[in-house]
Amino acid sequence: MKASIFGLGYVGVVTAACLARDGHEVIGVDVNPEKVGAIAAGRSPIVEPELDDLLREGVAAGRIGATTDAARAIADSEISLISVGTPSSKRGDPYLGHVDDVCADIGDALAAKRMPHVVVLRSTVPPGTLARCADMVTKRAPGAHLSFAFNPEFLREGSAIADFNHPSYSIIGTESEHAEEALRRLYAAVEAPVLVISPEVSEMVKYVANCWHAAKIGFANEIGRVAKALGVDGRTVMDVITQDTKLNVSPVYMKPGFAYGGSCLPKDVRAVLHYAHEKGVPVPMLAALPTSNQAQIDTACDLVLATKSSRLAVLGLAFKAGTDDLRESPAVPLVKRLLGEGCEVRIYSPDVNRARLMGTNLAYIREHIPHFERLLVDDADEAISWAETVVVTHPQAHFSRALDRAPDGTRVVDLAGVFAERPQRFEYDGIAW
Ligand SMILES: NC(=O)c1ccc[n+]([C@@H]2O[C@H](COP(=O)([O-])OP(=O)(O)OC[C@H]3O[C@@H](n4cnc5c(N)ncnc54)[C@H](O)[C@@H]3O)[C@@H](O)[C@H]2O)c1
Repeated sequence: MKASIFGLGYVGVVTAACLARDGHEVIGVDVNPEKVGAIAAGRSPIVEPELDDLLREGVAAGRIGATTDAARAIADSEISLISVGTPSSKRGDPYLGHVDDVCADIGDALAAKRMPHVVVLRSTVPPGTLARCADMVTKRAPGAHLSFAFNPEFLREGSAIADFNHPSYSIIGTESEHAEEALRRLYAAVEAPVLVISPEVSEMVKYVANCWHAAKIGFANEIGRVAKALGVDGRTVMDVITQDTKLNVSPVYMKPGFAYGGSCLPKDVRAVLHYAHEKGVPVPMLAALPTSNQAQIDTACDLVLATKSSRLAVLGLAFKAGTDDLRESPAVPLVKRLLGEGCEVRIYSPDVNRARLMGTNLAYIREHIPHFERLLVDDADEAISWAETVVVTHPQAHFSRALDRAPDGTRVVDLAGVFAERPQRFEYDGIAW
């Protein structure tokens, strides 16, 4: 393919070199004439293993060119990749001025071009930016046959070529079959599964990937600090932790939903925080866990209260399906607060059997909701038809079946993600979707 690449920084140069190696004709565009000069001469403006050789070979084969002239690059290409910088502004939001400038350049150049063109945004940008760019380009080139995609880059500096060749996946964020087909052809030599998703999700995914990496590093470092203070080798601890790919490093516990609870997680987080505090070890991330969890309970309360319903059916009182453990279940403070706000609550929680509750479990619920027995009901259908809003706190087959039988128009606040798709027949809101 003939591709133009706008922005010849780390991402742009590596992409140019790899695409040329894969047989495409690439023209790079940058506002910095020094970079353009270096690349046109086959010299890499950045230090990156293997890059010098690839650039030199690409230029020698006539497959890599560079220019400061956007119009020339657009005229010479069928697809344009945008990889200009999106640095932090003083307030922390990304500065999108370079993206806007390139879109203006591309739009103006496309106005003079009659052929179809695909515009691919690769810079890291907030959700909605591709749509804004598409609008900007289309307004400047009315009538042009254009299609747009967001295609995040996941390469890491220092191993950029290897990462380009073998990414975990290639993400094509687009609504356009034409753009999808063009990107599939462009990356035909890259061995990776291709995910075609919405532009907004793909824009968000790139930020989330980096937040997750930062969170993992912060977590491992905090564990390392606490472990050392307790006389344990933190590297060995994290090595053992990461060997569990069923629960520890896996999709488990990685779905947005209701808060954590139960008899172990809150207690054991508190224990580690206690020892960290005692040893004078700063663990701000771990210390934020209870606060973050409380924020999720507060969000759930706000979502329910926003319905302005006074009769609420809560499906699920235990902290998860298949247990009657009420200790530190997030549904308990949820119900307590809703009662405090003057709502009437009926709770359907088939695993919680009044007669069998005992010990610390019974003591816990008695302490927090003294008259909880009066709120428990045995018939989900009756509770649902009585209520103005149904609140689902965790996924369970009983609840799904009851909701299947619920009349059209039932108002549902879903804290658990019990529906894969937004159910059209309900008045429905989810906690993270
Ligand atoms: N560096 C990485 O490892 C990496 C990895 C993945 C994604 N990203 C993202 O990719 C984007 C680019 O990152 P980078 O590190 O390559 O940036 P960079 O700062 O190294 O390079 C950006 C280039 O864009 C050029 N530029 C600015 N305005 C221009 C314009 N109007 N027309 C043409 N060129 C213009 C600059 O001169 C510069 O050469 C960012 O959004 C970044 O977050 C970076």
